[in-house]
Amino acid sequence: MIQATPRTLHLLDHYADGEDARHFSFRIDFPLAGDLAAIPGQFFMLALPGFGEAPFTYVSLPDKYGHFSALIRRMGALTAALFEQPNGAVLGYRGPFGKGWPLFFSAHRVLAVAGGCGLAPLAGVIQEATSHHLPLQLSVIYGARHAAAQVLGRERARWQQMLPFIETFDEAPAGRRQGSPLEHFDELFGATPPDALLCCGPEPLMLAAAEDCLQRGMPANKIWLSLERRMHCADGLCGHCYVGASYACQDGPTYRYDRYLQLLGGRSAPAAAQDYRFC
Ligand SMILES: Cc1cc2nc3c(=O)[nH]c(=O)nc-3n(C[C@H](O)[C@H](O)[C@H](O)COP(=O)(O)OP(=O)(O)OC[C@H]3O[C@@H](n4cnc5c(N)ncnc54)[C@H](O)[C@@H]3O)c2cc1C
Ligand code: FES
Repeated sequence: MIQATPRTLHLLDHYADGEDARHFSFRIDFPLAGDLAAIPGQFFMLALPGFGEAPFTYVSLPDKYGHFSALIRRMGALTAALFEQPNGAVLGYRGPFGKGWPLFFSAHRVLAVAGGCGLAPLAGVIQEATSHHLPLQLSVIYGARHAAAQVLGRERARWQQMLPFIETFDEAPAGRRQGSPLEHFDELFGATPPDALLCCGPEPLMLAAAEDCLQRGMPANKIWLSLERRMHCADGLCGHCYVGASYACQDGPTYRYDRYLQLLGGRSAPAAAQDYRFC
């Protein structure tokens, strides 16, 4: 069903959570069955009167009261205006959209690699794994430019108690791990690669992680990336999000790596990174 008209969304609360990023709690008025069926990796369109709409991923998924949260980085006019909204502001909501992460691995060792704000789209998977709702052994490597750029501070403190969670920094504080997340794969898995990879972050990081896992023997159909493309309607109508022969708003934003390479149709994977800009 086409969702063209935004529904009422209440801004409940927000707090600083990383450099130029805030963690927002929202409530959907009268949540529908579709809201409650949202899965990690899907996204919603947030409408701000006078500023239009923009896509964001769920950090926590809508519950039966319509409560959910999102981690949002200040980029341009809409996000700057959103940061100024008081608690109680009335906004607009459409969603959920897109395909989420694959969640039905059976007893697999899964590696999640996140860079910067790319931890937000993986938060739902990590949450499900730590709640033992998923039959998988999840390990996480999270890379950030420096300590202040890390996001989801409260969630990370909890997750670190519950699963292998490695943090890396381009500019590491004393005593912390320096370097790219890729340099720390061996620390988790040694000679045996994980069975599957979920990755979200700057596109060069995702493509390098995918290639590293391929070289370690992981098949391309076990590698999933979350691609950010410009979105407008989010419903397969306007073509703004077209990637190869696919609408990212409907077929993505998560793509299996073998499918992603097919979509590029002969272009090399890194060349596709040029129109990418997730924080
Ligand atoms: C599926 C999806 C999920 C997302 N999830 C999140 C999230 O959870 N948290 C978050 O902070 N952001 C997320 N984003 C990015 C977010 O939608 C943009 O930051 C937002 O649209 C910025 O709006 P703005 O009006 O503040 O800035 P704008 O003025 O619209 O944008 C600022 C600058 O960024 C460029 N830009 C904006 N969006 C894109 C894009 N998709 N690709 C390339 N360039 C772009 C603009 O051209 C401009 O130069 C997501 C994007 C997509 C497609
Ligand atoms: S955003 Fe309009 S077709 Fe995908």
